[in-house]
Amino acid sequence: MGSHSLPCSLVHVFLVSFPGQGHVNPLLRLGKRLAAKGLLVTLSAPELIGKEIRKANQMSDEPTPVGDGMIRFEFFDDEWVEDENKAFCIGEYTKHLEVAGRKILPGVIKKQEEQGLPVACIINNPFIPWVSDVAESLHIPSAILWVQSCACFSAYYHYCHALAPYPTDAEPEIDVQLPSMPLLKHDEIPSFLHPTTPYPFLREAILGQFTNLSKSFCILMDTFQELEHDVINYVAKLCPVRPIGPLFKNPKAPASNVSVDILKADDCIGWLDSKPPASVVYISFGSIVFLKEEQIAELAYGLLDSEVSFLWVVRPRSKDSGYQEVVLPDGFLEKAGDKGKIVRWSPQEQVLAHPSVACFLSHCGWNSTLEALASGMPVLAFPQWGDQVTDAKYLVDEFKVGIRMCRGEAENKIVAREELEKCLREATNGPKAAEMKENAMKWKKLAADAVAEGGTSDRNLQEFVDEIRRRCT
Ligand code: UDX
Repeated sequence: MGSHSLPCSLVHVFLVSFPGQGHVNPLLRLGKRLAAKGLLVTLSAPELIGKEIRKANQMSDEPTPVGDGMIRFEFFDDEWVEDENKAFCIGEYTKHLEVAGRKILPGVIKKQEEQGLPVACIINNPFIPWVSDVAESLHIPSAILWVQSCACFSAYYHYCHALAPYPTDAEPEIDVQLPSMPLLKHDEIPSFLHPTTPYPFLREAILGQFTNLSKSFCILMDTFQELEHDVINYVAKLCPVRPIGPLFKNPKAPASNVSVDILKADDCIGWLDSKPPASVVYISFGSIVFLKEEQIAELAYGLLDSEVSFLWVVRPRSKDSGYQEVVLPDGFLEKAGDKGKIVRWSPQEQVLAHPSVACFLSHCGWNSTLEALASGMPVLAFPQWGDQVTDAKYLVDEFKVGIRMCRGEAENKIVAREELEKCLREATNGPKAAEMKENAMKWKKLAADAVAEGGTSDRNLQEFVDEIRRRCT
């Protein structure tokens, strides 16, 4: 990257991301918002994702102007060598990245200073809490971007500091009561905190952030005051949190089309344009969830039986995931005809804003949850694990924009086709549908107000920027 084109006069923030789509996306959104407020933003991530991002996006090496500031990328070689004979193991990779990153990142940051671009603040996101140690060793202030709800933050915080009873091996089914939150059943707490989680590694990876919290002067959260005010007000007494979301609702930065999609979005809008208003269910399970073949088949039959048209994101498995390619039931596409469209990746923000879409069948990842709320879109909640189960609880019982899809009693615990059909009917017709839509439209307005100039999230972000400027004078 030619340093001659870099604006040395701008305050420089350095964003470091774990190399996953769900991690890089919110950080890029934050980067655009900070750049729009006049900062130079460098988004840095391991080359592991850099090469995929470059392949899917026409990215220039030059910084891109966004509002009064600029954004640029700086991928670094994390010395990870892929073993062609083994499936990618995220646990092993995370450990490797910590060892390599502690060694490599200080050099990457010092290089900025040599280019006349000293770093005023380092911001990192979950799974890489050691970045705060690197910042401390370089005497650079650091902050965190928390990319789940404040409610989930509180659940992890209370667990980490043993501030409330949680399910244990001896008592796996106890409810959890946390301050300023509704009672959570044992299967509504973030599932990694449950003793039966098959992913104890992910619990450790997330809790790492909580044991290192005191190193950060600010915890930015992709949520907004009006959405989670009680729990935000409570957590603000425990640590310096600032809600600045929804980050994807960006009033100022659309001038830049910088994006980091690993898969190019298929054309969905043309197809949606051909459908009547509120006649389509949009189905997506985010970037890392894959359903069992049996469940996919059941959903497929439910869709064929339903009156509603569908736009369904069925992502290809990566070749090194160790899983079989997703298979739809024989003849499904022919039977669906023009009633349905299957894509590999959608432009989700545009899809959720499209008038033909009536509701969103979602795994309730936090990004999808916020995008649904900020688009005024009712949700059929089908959480799988992690924070998704807590988000689903909030979507249905607190935000009142969702219907829970119930799993069957059989051992495979799948959602039956009849259940999908029933939920689709409820979400698209009658008083429940009208009530959910009305609530969703209320959240849409509150989300837009929060990020508009002078709104709660905008003010919080401005105060954060002011704080960074103060710290470097
Ligand atoms: C992961 C975890 O699964 C989730 O629980 C956590 O809250 C965040 O990290 P992911 O599963 O990818 O995230 O779900 P989600 O948070 O909903 O993010 C998916 C993102 O991909 C959204 O921003 C969505 O707009 C985007 N997307 C998804 C597309 O743009 N097109 C698609 O076809 C599918």
